[in-house]
Formats: sequence, C-alpha cells, structure tokens
Amino acid sequence: MTAAGIRTDPISDRIVHVGQLEPLARELLAGPIWDYVAGGAGDEVTLGMASSAWSDIPLAPHVLVDASTIDTSTELLGHTLAHPILIAPTARHVSYHPERELASMRGAATAGALPVFSSLASSTLAEISAAATAEDSPWWFQLYVQNDHGWTQQLVEDAVSGGASALVVTVDTPTLGARDRDKRDNLGAAAGAQYPILAGMTPSPDSTPPHRRIYNPHLSPSITWDDLEWLVDISPVPVIPKGILRPDDARRAVDYGVGAIIVSNHGARNLDTVPPTAVALPGVVGAADGAVPVLVDGGIRRGTDVAKALCMGAHAVLVGRPIIWGLATYGAAGVTHVIEMLRTELEMAMALLGAPTIPELVDDLIWR
Ligand SMILES: Cc1cc2nc3c(=O)[nH]c(=O)nc-3n(C[C@H](O)[C@H](O)[C@H](O)COP(=O)(O)O)c2cc1C
Repeated sequence: MTAAGIRTDPISDRIVHVGQLEPLARELLAGPIWDYVAGGAGDEVTLGMASSAWSDIPLAPHVLVDASTIDTSTELLGHTLAHPILIAPTARHVSYHPERELASMRGAATAGALPVFSSLASSTLAEISAAATAEDSPWWFQLYVQNDHGWTQQLVEDAVSGGASALVVTVDTPTLGARDRDKRDNLGAAAGAQYPILAGMTPSPDSTPPHRRIYNPHLSPSITWDDLEWLVDISPVPVIPKGILRPDDARRAVDYGVGAIIVSNHGARNLDTVPPTAVALPGVVGAADGAVPVLVDGGIRRGTDVAKALCMGAHAVLVGRPIIWGLATYGAAGVTHVIEMLRTELEMAMALLGAPTIPELVDDLIWR
C-alpha cells in the first residue's frame, strides 16, 4: 500500500507546532496505514502517557540570564550536530510518501537532523547511502539482528561501507506487541509491505493459525546478550542498543562496550503498560553514569520536551511519528518543518530557562 495522496500546496505559516500536522496526515493516510502509524500495543495505556509524561514535568527557569545568543549545537559520537533532535527509525516510508526514505533524507539534511534508517525501510541501502552522500549528511542504520550471523555481518558491512556511522540495534522486539489495530485491519495482507534491505533473508515459516501467532517473520525471537556482544565485536562503528528501560540492563550494555544507549519503549508499540520513557530516563542516566551518551525517544512533541530530556541527562532525543506526519503531508519539506518547529521551540525554551547552551540544560532546571 502506498501513500494515499500528496499535497501540493506550500506549508502554511499557520502550522506552528508539530501536533497540527497529525490531523492533516490522518486525512491522507486514513485506514490501515493510519492505524499502523498512530497505534500502540494492547489497550494503548503506555501510548496514552507518552507525551503527557513529558508535559507533566514542571520546569524551574532562571531569570536575568543573557539570552541574546542561543546555541543548540552538540557533540555526539564524533559528530558535531546543529541540534540534539534526531530522526527515529520508522519502517516503510513508501506508505507515507512516494519518494520514500529519499524524501526523509533530504528533509533531515536541510534541517541538520541526523536520521536513523530502519531495516524495514522501503529503500535499499545503496539508495539511502546515495541520498546521504548527495546531501553530505551523516546517518545511522537501525538493525534487527538475525540468527544467521553471516547474513547479519554482511548487512553491517554494507551499511557501514554505505556510510552509516553507527548501528542502532533494536533490542526490545523479539516479537511485535499486541497490535490490535493492525490485526483488526489485517494489515499484513492489506499493506503488502516489501522490505528491500531484508530481501536476501528467508523468513522463518510459521504454521501457527493467525489468532495464535506471536512471532514475526522478520524478527528473530532468540536474540540475546551474546548476540549484542558479537555485534560489538565485529562492528567497526559504535553499536547503540535501542529499547532499554531498566537501569540494570543499561549497566550491562555499558559493560558490553556499546557506544550509547537509547531509552525507548518502541513508541509504546511493543509491551503495553511499561512506563513512558520520561519516567524511565533518569534510572538509565544514573546507571550509565556518564560512561556513554544516553538518548531517548517516545512522545516528544514540543521543544520543552527536548529541553526536559536534556535537563534529565539525555544527550539527544529522537522523534518518530511527527516525522511521518511531516513526510506524509509535505514530503521532504514537511520533515524539515517538523524538525525546525521543534528546534525553534527548543531555542525559545533555552532562552526562557536561562540556559542558552546545551551544557547549561541541567537537572536543577526541573522543578523538584
Ligand atoms: C510507524 C512506526 C514504525 C516504526 N518502525 C520501527 C522500526 O522499523 N524499527 C525500530 O527500531 N523502531 C521503529 N519504530 C519506533 C520508533 O523508532 C520510535 O521508537 C518511536 O516512534 C518513538 O516514539 P514517537 O513516535 O512517539 O516519537 C516505529 C514507530 C512507528 C510509529
């Protein structure tokens, strides 16, 4: 299933915050694809808390700080980034816009946002790599480790030789969550999704009747810490586990030599009733204890959310669904607009907090 329609009008000046793009995207993607993008697992309890967990955190601004220059730039794993807002990996961009990941790449580059591309992208690694090279933009690759280490290693080599400067390994998905909306929509049949990056992989056959099925043919359910250790060992670039919520897992990941950690609950799409990431972040920051950068995603919709995450010890954030809303409505320009709205709000928040540079966003600015 491809995108339902494309808007051709320029982005209105009246779209001033990312939430305004959601209903516009919904009009264009109505049906199973909208359910797939918007939905969470089970009763969507975690999803319901994702954004409010950030907005409920009160801020404690300083007054009378010179805010005539605001600097959002930051260093992350060897990159100097214009701002700490990254693009989370999301599957199958062809479902949102005919220019697929190539539009996302262009939009990201214009906004100075480092994108992470999914193993379940609708483009080949060669296409993503060419787009990144054309834009002179760094990018990271999100990997679902497969049981066949030879196959996975080849994928890693292809991604790295194509320019990926880190591997984001999703560690929270031995199986998908109870995605009731997708099951009701019979999404698998409706979407006819194709995943060119995984083209050479033979999905495991599953003879279980659909209503009893829990595994997904593209995800290996038997991945363990041993596989993470193996990956760190063979990877020439930093390995970043995505989907860590517990401090003990974070400590263990640091011991295994990861380059950074992403606190994530997979956009509340996997295990319902886990805490929102705003609640999990402090424990992971404490456990990492400065050994590696900690990133966070989930429900980030405002510049103040970004500021709070950084005050609480995150080095950067990633956004998922808002990027899809931007891509679906205005293609590359929509992706750029989403990041620019968040960045502008972040700058305003930094000025109003009395923290004009990223290192000045500290825990003391959270109202305790
Ligand atoms: C439609 C959709 C597809 C996603 N696909 C992937 C994926 O292929 N790999 C992955 O690691 N995470 C995937 N995610 C999770 C995102 O990377 C990210 O953790 C989440 O979207 C962040 O929450 P947010 O959407 O509230 O910003 C997906 C999320 C959505 C909404």
